[in-house]
Amino acid sequence: MRVVRSIEQLREALEYMRQGGHAPIGFVPTMGYLHEGHASLLRRAGEMSNTVVMSIFVNPLQFGPNEDYDSYPRDEERDLELAEREGVDIVFIPSVEEMYPQPTRTTVSVSELTTRLCGASRPGHFNGVTTVVNKLFNIVQPHYAFFGLKDAQQVAVLRRMVSDLNMNVEIVPCPIVREGDGLALSSRNVFLSPEERSQALVLSRSLREARQSIEEGKARTVAEVRELLTSVISSSPLAVIDYAEILTFPNLEGLENEVLLTDVDGEIIIALAVKFGRTRLIDNNVFIPKEVAAVV
Ligand code: PAJ
Repeated sequence: MRVVRSIEQLREALEYMRQGGHAPIGFVPTMGYLHEGHASLLRRAGEMSNTVVMSIFVNPLQFGPNEDYDSYPRDEERDLELAEREGVDIVFIPSVEEMYPQPTRTTVSVSELTTRLCGASRPGHFNGVTTVVNKLFNIVQPHYAFFGLKDAQQVAVLRRMVSDLNMNVEIVPCPIVREGDGLALSSRNVFLSPEERSQALVLSRSLREARQSIEEGKARTVAEVRELLTSVISSSPLAVIDYAEILTFPNLEGLENEVLLTDVDGEIIIALAVKFGRTRLIDNNVFIPKEVAAVV
């Protein structure tokens, strides 16, 4: 496994791989502090590509002024061990100066899809994501890029960017990896106190119960599902709901309260963001209600 820190070195290493017939190139962008969720993307990349490139870059552009950029967890040594174990060929770890040597005057922004959910609570966040991912795609020029559905809105936004701008890369969405008890893995889980950690299970539990109620025909409208979500989440005294929403996927269009889910064509997303103390957690479930709901 090669570790490279400059764009020039990375381009040379990739040129060597391309010349040697080691395509397709699979790319897994990360902000480090890796866990099983990231590992699952690396494994998928390994199955689909001959060269796996992973980047570790905590991108300042996607953090708001009062967010956790400075305290975002970092552990390069442990990340490199995990990458090696998962068969990564090249790890790209640029500094902020390497990625942003001058003030950025050019950004990429996707409209509409970024105004809802995390886009509403974190203004500017997705512009930071689309800009850095665009830069990384230009540097790596991968055939495939792997992203987790843990950040389903990120997947929807990046797919739209690739499609709108005719970018020559295939976005491969990968399923959410969870702890045995249901909590979605996240680098930010380390910030949870034991009490918050146990109460944080309301996220996955509320999603499971919502999905089950839809399957059994107990919750049929958007309003009923939203009510069920908020009542399960509110049963945890430490939980502060940022949003609990039901939208179409991947266009992230809103649905009126009285809409019957079985009338919606295609996929929906049930998406949650909930704060426990200073830690904000997200989780979601994407599915086709017409396929799962009981016929009544
Ligand atoms: P980061 O939060 O490090 O996540 C990197 C990738 O791992 C993302 O595609 C994310 O969806 C995926 N991931 C995280 N937890 C997961 C889980 N429990 N199951 C499955 N996949 C999971 O997302 C980012 O970094 C950044 O925004 C980035 C795309 C690197 C741009 O800076």
